[in-house]
Amino acid sequence: MYSLLRSFLFTQDAEWSHEATLNVLKKTQGTFAESFYRQKLMAKPRKVMGIDFVNPVGLAAGLDKNAECIEAFAAMGFGFIEVGTVTPRPQLGNEKPRLFRLPEAQGIINRMGFNNKGVDYLVERVKTARYAGVLGINIGKNKDTPNEQGKDDYLICMDKVYQYASYITVNISSPNTPGLRNLQYGEALNDLLSAIKNKQTELADKHQKYVPVAVKIAPDMDSSEVKQVANTLIENKIDGVIATNTTLERAAVKHLPHGEEAGGLSGVPVRRQSTQVISQLKEALAGQLPIIGVGGINSLDSANEKLAAGADLLQVYSGFIYRGPDLIKEIVQGLD
Ligand SMILES: Cc1cc2nc3c(=O)[nH]c(=O)nc-3n(C[C@H](O)[C@H](O)[C@H](O)COP(=O)(O)O)c2cc1C
Repeated sequence: MYSLLRSFLFTQDAEWSHEATLNVLKKTQGTFAESFYRQKLMAKPRKVMGIDFVNPVGLAAGLDKNAECIEAFAAMGFGFIEVGTVTPRPQLGNEKPRLFRLPEAQGIINRMGFNNKGVDYLVERVKTARYAGVLGINIGKNKDTPNEQGKDDYLICMDKVYQYASYITVNISSPNTPGLRNLQYGEALNDLLSAIKNKQTELADKHQKYVPVAVKIAPDMDSSEVKQVANTLIENKIDGVIATNTTLERAAVKHLPHGEEAGGLSGVPVRRQSTQVISQLKEALAGQLPIIGVGGINSLDSANEKLAAGADLLQVYSGFIYRGPDLIKEIVQGLD
């Protein structure tokens, strides 16, 4: 059924299709109409970061930025759902058009720029969602917050989402907020992560609940940079790492329509790069931190590739746009 819907949606503007689909999901979740996309999948339980997951296939951040469709995605069979990226204040994001399909490559380029309704709105949505599964909340900084104060934005969001999240993701790898990726390197990373760790300790005490923190990184790093990031994660006792976000690389798609649009490239064209980063992380982390693998998963084979490289859990975004809920089923049922 999704392939029919997709053939219509792909004739429409990409962002319009995205909004229209989310609107339908928002309206139908929890109603009889949910049966059109509900899937009952086998349990493939995993325990990662101290959290129990019914299966290891999650929805990646950025699709449900405002946490408006949690129940719908849960009904499709995701083992966990990551909402956001959310920022302290609402923001519109970049000028449109800012989302492009590259169907020949099963890729997407986006330069959305953290369009979202702000952390207070997201928290209200999460509070009212009828969902008892694993919920990640992905946090970022507002574009107009100066980079020197970027840390404060993460701490503000942490404060507000802490008691509602199963885990929190610190997103320092979007290519669409100027300067954000600089937080991945050297002293800036150490400084940010030590502040986040202190905040986590303070909030764990206040709420009598330990909420793991994961850091999401970019694929555009060489092996020594990955190693450095891994060491900083270990030193700051971060609970997990999500690899990877979208890439700035264009070699595989620059000959295609929209292939040279600015922004982050995802889907099949980022698959290899993201798997490579996971392998490098696996070696550098030596089992001290779990890895959530994301980037170009569009089949059971590509999911197994991430697991073989060292991922403990998986997330999908672009593959889900191209394949729909069938993708979750194929992976969950095919996994050992
Ligand atoms: C349109 C779009 C918006 C995204 N927005 C976010 C975001 O807000 N925060 C984030 O951490 N990742 C975001 N991502 C990145 C995805 O979560 C994922 O890391 C990346 O797309 C690679 O996975 P994929 O190949 O399965 O798409 C976005 C990706 C796309 C395509």
